[in-house]
Amino acid sequence: MLKGKKIMLGITGSIAAYKAVLLVRELVKAGAEVRVIMTPSAADFVTPLTLSTLSRNPVLTELFDEQSWSNHVMLGRWADVFLIAPLSCNTLSKMANGNCDNLLMAVYLSATCPVVVAPAMDEDMWQHPSTCVNIKRLEEFGNRIIPVGNGALASGLSGEGRMAEPAEIISYLEEQVFSSGVLSGKKVLVTAGPTYEPIDPVRFIGNHSSGKMGIALAREMQSRGAEVTLVLGPVTGEPALQGIRIISVMTAAQMYDACMQEFPDATIAVMAAAVADYTPAQTAAEKIKKTGETLPLELKKTRDILKSLGEIKRTDQVLVGFALETNDEKKHALAKLENKNADMIVLNSLNDTGAGFGKDTNKVTMFTRDGKEFPFGTKPKQAVAADITDTIIQLYYA
Ligand code: CTP
Repeated sequence: MLKGKKIMLGITGSIAAYKAVLLVRELVKAGAEVRVIMTPSAADFVTPLTLSTLSRNPVLTELFDEQSWSNHVMLGRWADVFLIAPLSCNTLSKMANGNCDNLLMAVYLSATCPVVVAPAMDEDMWQHPSTCVNIKRLEEFGNRIIPVGNGALASGLSGEGRMAEPAEIISYLEEQVFSSGVLSGKKVLVTAGPTYEPIDPVRFIGNHSSGKMGIALAREMQSRGAEVTLVLGPVTGEPALQGIRIISVMTAAQMYDACMQEFPDATIAVMAAAVADYTPAQTAAEKIKKTGETLPLELKKTRDILKSLGEIKRTDQVLVGFALETNDEKKHALAKLENKNADMIVLNSLNDTGAGFGKDTNKVTMFTRDGKEFPFGTKPKQAVAADITDTIIQLYYA
C-alpha cells in the first residue's frame, strides 16, 4: 500500500529519533520514496549520513547554505504525506504558533499534503497544559496525531509520552492516510454552528452554538474517506478544514437553501446546526432608534431544514438530526425522530455537565427509528464525532 508513495519524514530533536532510523528502513522496504528533513538539533541524536544512506536521498537540514536555497514550497508539494516523527515539544510549539525558523518549519507551513505527527516526550511535558493546547491547535489545523504510547521514558521514569513504534506508524499511514476509507465515494452533508436572524443592519437574534460538534463531525466523516460539504453558520474563528467544501451562511433561510440544494447528492446528511426556530417578521432597513420604552418584535417561524429533508429523503440516504433538550429528553428526542422522518437522532441534554454549547466535550445518546439506543459517556467532541460516525457506519455501511 505504501509502494510508490512519497513520504517526507521530518525528524526533530528527541531521543526517539533513533526509532526514525528503523522507520526509514521499513518505509523504504515497503516501497515508499522517502526524503528526510531534520531540525538542527535532530542531528545531535542521529546522523544525516545514516538517514541519507537508508533513504537513498540527501538529508535536508538547512533552509539555505552558501551554495543553494531549499525550495520548501516544492518539497511540501512533492510529498503525499508529511510525517513528523518524532515530534518534540519544541517543534510542536512552533507548529502551533506558525514559527518559521528552520527548513522543517518552512516545509510544514507550505505543505499542501496531509500532515501526520508522532509526538515523543516525557510524561510531565506531555501532560503540561501548554502541550495539550498545542496538540489541540494542531488537530484544529487538520493535522493528525498518532497517539503516544505508555512505557519506559528517556528520563528513566515510566508513563505516557513514548513515540509510537515504527510498525504502528506504518500501520497508521496505511489505515488512516492511504486507505480509501469505508466512506470513500460517499458524499456527506453536515450543518454546523448557529444562525443569525437580522433585526436591523446592526442587530440579530442568535444562539450560543460554537459549531464545534458539527465541525468535528465533518472532520471525522472526511477521515473515513467521505467527500464532505459543510454548511456553516457564523462561528468565531476560521476553522482549518483542509479538503472540506464549506458553504458559509448567515440565516436559517440561507442554510435551508444550501441544504435543499446539496441534499440530493448526499448519501449521509447530519444536521448538527442550531438553527433559529423564529426569525423577525420584518428586518428594518435602517438601525432601529431607541424611541419607545418597549420594542415589540414580531417573529415568524423559520422552515425546519431537517423536516424538509426528511420529506424528500430517498431510501438510499441516511438522515441524522440532533436534539438539544433540557427536560423529558428521551421523549422529545424520539418525537423529533418521528416527526422529522430522520433515521437517527443524536440527543444531548443541557442537564449533563460536560455537554452543550461552547464546551469542548459532549455527552450524547443516539436513537434509531427501529428502537435502538446507543448511549455514550462524556468525551471530547472529536471522540463523540467518531462514536456517531462509527454508529452510522456500523448500522448502514458495515
Ligand atoms: N432543525 C432544522 N431546522 C430548524 C430547526 C431545527 O433543521 N429550523 C434541526 C436541527 O439542526 C436539529 C434538529 O432539527 O438537527 C432538532 O433541533 P432542535 O432545536 O433540538 O429542535 P426543534 O425542532 O427546533 O424543536 P424545539 O426547539 O421545539 O425543541
